[in-house]
Formats: sequence, C-alpha cells, structure tokens
Amino acid sequence: TFTPNAFVEEIVAEMKEKIGNDKVVLGLSGGVDSTVAAVLLNKAIGENLYCIFVNNGLLRKNEFQSVLDQYKGMGLNVKGVDASKRFYDALAGLDDPEAKRKAIGNAFIEVFDDEAHQLTDVKFLGQGTIYPDVIESVSATGGPSATIKSHHNVGGLPDFMKLKIVEPLRMLFKDEVRRVGATLGIDPELLGRHPFPGPGLAIRILGDITPEKVAILQEVDAIFINGLKEHGLYDKVWQAGAILLPVNSVGVMGDERTYEKVVALRAVESTDGMTADWVHLPYDFLMKTSNEIINKVKGVNRVVYDISSKPPATIEWE
Ligand code: XMP
Repeated sequence: TFTPNAFVEEIVAEMKEKIGNDKVVLGLSGGVDSTVAAVLLNKAIGENLYCIFVNNGLLRKNEFQSVLDQYKGMGLNVKGVDASKRFYDALAGLDDPEAKRKAIGNAFIEVFDDEAHQLTDVKFLGQGTIYPDVIESVSATGGPSATIKSHHNVGGLPDFMKLKIVEPLRMLFKDEVRRVGATLGIDPELLGRHPFPGPGLAIRILGDITPEKVAILQEVDAIFINGLKEHGLYDKVWQAGAILLPVNSVGVMGDERTYEKVVALRAVESTDGMTADWVHLPYDFLMKTSNEIINKVKGVNRVVYDISSKPPATIEWE
C-alpha cells in the first residue's frame, strides 16, 4: 500500500542525489500536479528550484494573483510572468479549436524559453508529470516529450527542452498526488480544485478570442464557481465552468429589444474525464445563479444549462 510519508522521504532523498547543487526550472500551472512537484523539489533543493508561473490571460478571474500569492506563501522561489498580451496577440482572429490550442502551446513555449534564458546554469527541467500522463504520451505519440515537441513547429527545440528532466510524481496516480500534497501541508482547497484545461478559457469561448470576451466569461464563471462553493456543491462536482456562445439572443429591456450574449453552464461528475455525466444541480441553485449572472454581467441576457453526457458529448465545447 502507498504511504505518502514514506514516499516523500524517499523521493526527496532521490532528488537530492540526482540534482546535487544544480539548478532546476519548473513551470507552475496553478493545478495540483505542478504544485506538489514544486513543493517536493523545494524540499529537496530549496532556492535552487526556480519556478515560473505564466499568466496566459485565459485563467479564471483573479486567479493569477491569488495563486501567485499562495505559491509565495508556501515558500516557493517563484516568478510570476504576465504574458496575457502575447497570448491574445497569438490568438487574434483564430477560431478553429485546434489552431487556438496550437497558438497557446507555442506562445507558452516562447514565454517559458525567454524566462529560462534569464537564468544561468540551469541543468534540469522539473515537471509535474503523473503516471497516467506517462502512459498516455507513450502510447499516443511515442515518447514522453513528444507532446510538448509537437507544439513547437518553428524550427528546432527551444533550449529548455535540451535540459535533463526531473519528474518526482511520474509513478503516482492522481489520488496519491493529492495524499502526498496533504502530507506536505498544501492547502486542501488547492488540492481539491477542479481540473482546468491548459488552454483555459480560450476553449470555453467558442470562436475567436478577444480580451473583452475573456472578461465577460471570467465574471460569469466566477459567479457560478463561487455559488457552487457557497452552496456546498463544489466538492460534489468533478468539473464545472461556463461557456460563452457565439450567438446573440433577443432580450427585452423596458420597451427595447436587445441582442446580447448567451452563456452555457456545465457541471459534470466523472472519475477520470474519459466519461462524464451532467450533474443534477438543484433548480433553486440554477435559478439564483442565472439571475445573478444576468443582473450583474453586462452583455449577457440568457443562461442555459448543458444536460449532455460524455460520450457522445465531451466535457469542453471545443
Ligand atoms: P473533453 O472535453 O475531451 O475533456 O471531454 C476531458 C478533460 O480534458 C480537459 N481538456 C484539456 N486539458 N488541454 C488540457 O490541458 C486541452 O487542450 C484540453 N481539452 C480538454 C477537459 O477540461 C476535461 O477535464
């Protein structure tokens, strides 16, 4: 059986031995895996771990600052890089989902490479890869680094890809990562966060991305997620979020007809994301949430609830 304490002791010793006095650079995402990997590496090598947390402008409302503060509070040596504009520029005019994903992947690699270049004598790249990622990338693409490589289609590997890899979690399943995180004293709220896709809100805004659309979706999403928390529903749901639809619908304000945005709310139960059922959220909660969104978020006049399961629908809309 898996004992988190024994694992921590062993892996920290192993990392110390492997890394010695060399430096490691690691990208934090705000998610569970990269956070636990960073805390383990920090325990092993302290200030020689250089963490980079990139704001791609596609995170949830206030998330960049609050998660960055949290990382600093944990004693991590972390640099926050606000690259929102770079991502918005890369996304401008793109409406194909895979083109959007590719643009985001490329922009991330460029930003990370720039930052890694400002550090001298880094020997290792730390990653929060967990066991299911290892299996998936080997079977899907023929090697663990192939996924990240495929994003980089602009001639040669970025320099940080030439670093040696350290992956303290590569033998663990998700629930084991959470248990290790708890043993390390990481905030239970962070460990219990819903999964959030790497391309972030970009794949929940159907069609092309503008900073204005992102701002609208952030407001809607925050009302929905905070509501789930306030009503004790957040932990009963595997993943939830809002989607900004590329249609206007008619509404009425006084004597005027308005044409404004429609948002969809999605909440699913799942164990691994491979299959998922829509959650029967209480009507009362949906009513309050819908009212709050329509009253508070300018530009939205209609809210719908997604009642599709996976398969055949997917969790995300793009
Ligand atoms: P789907 O939409 O395929 O999503 O049912 C399954 C899980 O994967 C997440 N997802 C992504 N995560 N990059 C990611 O890092 C992506 O491009 C991406 N697309 C979907 C989704 O949020 C869900 O948890």
